[in-house]
Amino acid sequence: MTVIVIAGGLSHERDVSLRSGRRVAQALRDVGRDVIETDVNGDLVQLLRDTPDAVAVPMLHGGLGEDGALREVLEVLGVPFVGANGASSRLTFDKSIATSVVRAVGLNAPRQIALPHDIFRELGAPALMESIGSQLGYPLMVKPSRSGSALGVTKVSSASELPSALVAAYAYGPVAVIESYLEGTEIAVTVLDEGDGPVALPAVEIRPESGVYDYESRYTAGTTRFVAPAQLDDDVLAAAGALAVAVHEALGLRHISRVDMIVRDGVPVFFEGNVAPGMTETSLAPLAIEASGRELGEVFAALVDLAAS
Ligand code: DAL
Ligand code: MG
Repeated sequence: MTVIVIAGGLSHERDVSLRSGRRVAQALRDVGRDVIETDVNGDLVQLLRDTPDAVAVPMLHGGLGEDGALREVLEVLGVPFVGANGASSRLTFDKSIATSVVRAVGLNAPRQIALPHDIFRELGAPALMESIGSQLGYPLMVKPSRSGSALGVTKVSSASELPSALVAAYAYGPVAVIESYLEGTEIAVTVLDEGDGPVALPAVEIRPESGVYDYESRYTAGTTRFVAPAQLDDDVLAAAGALAVAVHEALGLRHISRVDMIVRDGVPVFFEGNVAPGMTETSLAPLAIEASGRELGEVFAALVDLAAS
């Protein structure tokens, strides 16, 4: 078997993906696996066709990777791969769809409005500021519906800040989501399914020095303190694990995912699912794996074997 780690791609998270891919590829080599690292380019399909017993590990973040497109190509080619299938990736990557699915199955998620750019232009900022403020109140979070690593995400404290936050989100795609701001402790729960059903790994608590977990706080070593397991009461940790597993199941995810949430007044509230959680030196899922007493390479080797079986 040859493991093909696919990283890089064309999205705004290309650099993050290359870092994730490098780390996972090295971890798999460290446990004796035969690994090829490759980017997404015109040679990819030929490489997949020419590699006997290939198993792919898509480490692509953002568009083309997490939106299901590349995974659908793998499905068409019949190449087994680690992680959620194309359809579930597509659903999960779109925050407006994922949040409505999570709310529809009765799980805690923020109230949200999805606003396409065309509607923003048509209605105009003043009318929208009034309507959104009266529906959700302030503060709010404004995000691109389909992006990651906090790119294009802004906290909005008053109506006057809303138009520029929307413009920032539209830089990453044609639909923005506007959510009630959740005050509380940010945690991330990695879910692992090695064939016996999904299990929540220890929650990782996120404490950015700047107070904001933005792109810089995510990927600059030393700018965020991570606490694993999170310093929360046992019943809160149990509720967070249960929410993460329920989200993983509701979104139809597979093998590994990460569910991001805010604990507000002791209650975990979903705000995002990730089908390709970051695996960089400062990412959350590797910390959760380490906190569970496992090695990254051992876990990915098990998932590769599961995908191939
Ligand atoms: N989108 C980044 C890679 C993450 O969620 O970890
Ligand atoms: Mg994300």
